[in-house]
Amino acid sequence: MTRIAFLLVAVAAVTGVVASMAPASGHADDEAVPIFGIKIPPGYRDWRLISVAHEEGNLHSFAAVLGNDVAIKAYREGKLPYPDGTIIAALHYSHVPSEENDKVFGNPQSFVPGPRMTRIAFMLVAVVTVAGVVAFMAPAHGRADGEAAPIFVTTIPPGYRDWRLISVAREEGSLDDIRAVLGNDAGIKAHREGKLPFPEGTIIVRIAWSFDSSRENNDIFCKLNPASCGHPQSYVAGPPKNGVQFMVKDSKKYASTGGWGFAQFDDGKPADEGVLKTCYPCHQAIKARDFVFTRYAP
Ligand code: HEC
Repeated sequence: MTRIAFLLVAVAAVTGVVASMAPASGHADDEAVPIFGIKIPPGYRDWRLISVAHEEGNLHSFAAVLGNDVAIKAYREGKLPYPDGTIIAALHYSHVPSEENDKVFGNPQSFVPGPRMTRIAFMLVAVVTVAGVVAFMAPAHGRADGEAAPIFVTTIPPGYRDWRLISVAREEGSLDDIRAVLGNDAGIKAHREGKLPFPEGTIIVRIAWSFDSSRENNDIFCKLNPASCGHPQSYVAGPPKNGVQFMVKDSKKYASTGGWGFAQFDDGKPADEGVLKTCYPCHQAIKARDFVFTRYAP
């Protein structure tokens, strides 16, 4: 299920109690559907990630909140009010268990976006979602430039926090986080075209945050739907958690690990070899998709 919610700053002032579900008449990327005078902004799926969230209860969904350039800049600078031209899009997906992922974790703990449903939600969901998001700033420190490692990646690929969204996921159990997977240009292109193997130069990053209950959001749900009061249902991304993980495609350099270099950075510092040795053996379970578990969420 995919619902897409757009919030224009111009209409955000209207304390929106209008939850509207409109059938999308085609692929949201390239069709402009006018509703409430708002057209689907072109190219929104290429915008940068603001944050992710999960709603339980009757919504039972994942949200990925993306922002256009104006929105991202304002979020990162923490400036309010949002300037004219800000557009924030909330993509909503159903929340389904992943047998594939559970198998390698050995526990029923992994949830991923389900199949797309062409429905678009405007306004309300965006307002609610946006209320609780926490902007995450990429750690810029701790680079170990020039350090050559035979197998593992030791420098943080620059600019990864600006890459485009591949998908989101939730891990329960000891990981207990909510995560997003982003790709550089080569990674996004390959994912969208469904081409395997991934081309040289592909980099995929997995970022994760603490899975935090949002009082702010729950209070809003409670006001709108008294039946939901006392049932916390909204979870948002808290502080960064479980490090930042990368997979870098270079078939020659990383020939011994399926052509992928693996890296993990905790607070900007590379994880030790003991940790990095676990990556490839587990990712081998998904060799048939070139060692990449995450599927593109449209
Ligand atoms: C126990 C198995 C396991 C281990 C060990 C593991 N991963 Fe993964 N990894 C997964 C699964 C399953 C996913 C997809 C679901 C998710 O993100 O939780 C994933 C997702 C990823 C992604 C996003 C692309 C993709 O394949 O979906 C990256 C990047 C990644 N892992 C890097 C690493 C790195 C680097 C290490 C080692 C430090 C590592 N992984 C260790 C199972 C594992």
